[in-house]
Amino acid sequence: MAHHARAKAHTNIALSKYWGKRDNDLILPMNGSLSLTLDAFHTTTEVRFVEERGADTVVLNDQPLDASAAAKVSRFLDRVRELKGVDWRAEVRSYNEVPTGAGLASSASAFAALAAAASQALGLKLSERELSILARKGSGSASRSIFGGFALWQAGHDDQSSYAYPLQSPLHDDIAMLVVVINAAHKPVSSREGMRRTVETSPYYPAWVDDAEQRLGEMKQAVVEGDFTRMGELAEMSAMRMHASMLAAEPPFCYWESGSLQAMQTVRELRAQGHQCYFTMDAGPNVKIITRTSELAVLKRALAATVGEQALLTARPGPGIVVENC
Ligand code: DP6
Repeated sequence: MAHHARAKAHTNIALSKYWGKRDNDLILPMNGSLSLTLDAFHTTTEVRFVEERGADTVVLNDQPLDASAAAKVSRFLDRVRELKGVDWRAEVRSYNEVPTGAGLASSASAFAALAAAASQALGLKLSERELSILARKGSGSASRSIFGGFALWQAGHDDQSSYAYPLQSPLHDDIAMLVVVINAAHKPVSSREGMRRTVETSPYYPAWVDDAEQRLGEMKQAVVEGDFTRMGELAEMSAMRMHASMLAAEPPFCYWESGSLQAMQTVRELRAQGHQCYFTMDAGPNVKIITRTSELAVLKRALAATVGEQALLTARPGPGIVVENC
């Protein structure tokens, strides 16, 4: 019997951000979040279990993964093996289809694809909710990449109540994201370390948690009702407040670079001229612009003047996870 499966997952960008954990082991978040899955960036992962004990092998884009990243994958696979009650070793082969130098985090699509491929390879029949719970334990944002389009990850109060689910929205067919690559280099503070430091030391963090939950409700309503303007305003606010909490950490840290500020300013100027665009930023210097498909050409022209055309990537809503036996 072949224990071999393949899954493809797309990455997502949060419009209402997840920042901070209540439980580092189970990856339970302090607050819920809402995201858009993107079509342009995805991970395809194949997992084969061999019915014998031994070390797992993990290959990413045809290169063996470094020891600490491979250990993280193995720890995650232990959770899947435990669900099935086996101790078989795994061979993992993964391809990240993120344009070279995009500087975009791939842990969301990576752990969503790994969760789906590994559980399918072992014949576990997980529902989408169970898959979201499993992927969450690899990387929080991966819980949302099980679904296409908009997804809401509810914080929950324990392992079984913290999962993502899809949201239908009239915005789906007309929304686009323009990624402005400011710097593709590896980030100096990982989101995991950044969250931990913010939770433990930032006096602004409790305010973030209070506000984030309340705004998430408003964001959900804007998305479901198709209120683009409110959705954009809330997305910008969520990013700014998340980054404010980091500025107040000890030691403080900041992901923004001068190019990030320039891109944000361009977005504000275009908006003042009547264009529909809002920005968001994650744990890195790149700026993601939330806009309408019809506005893309204007935005690209305005941004190409400062960052260059090659630094711009366009994305539209992407599909949910696809999994198959090999
Ligand atoms: C700023 O999901 O990468 O992108 O759970 O520690 O793996 P871990 O963190 P991760 O954090 C994402 C943080 C963010 C906001 C978001 O995607 O909601």
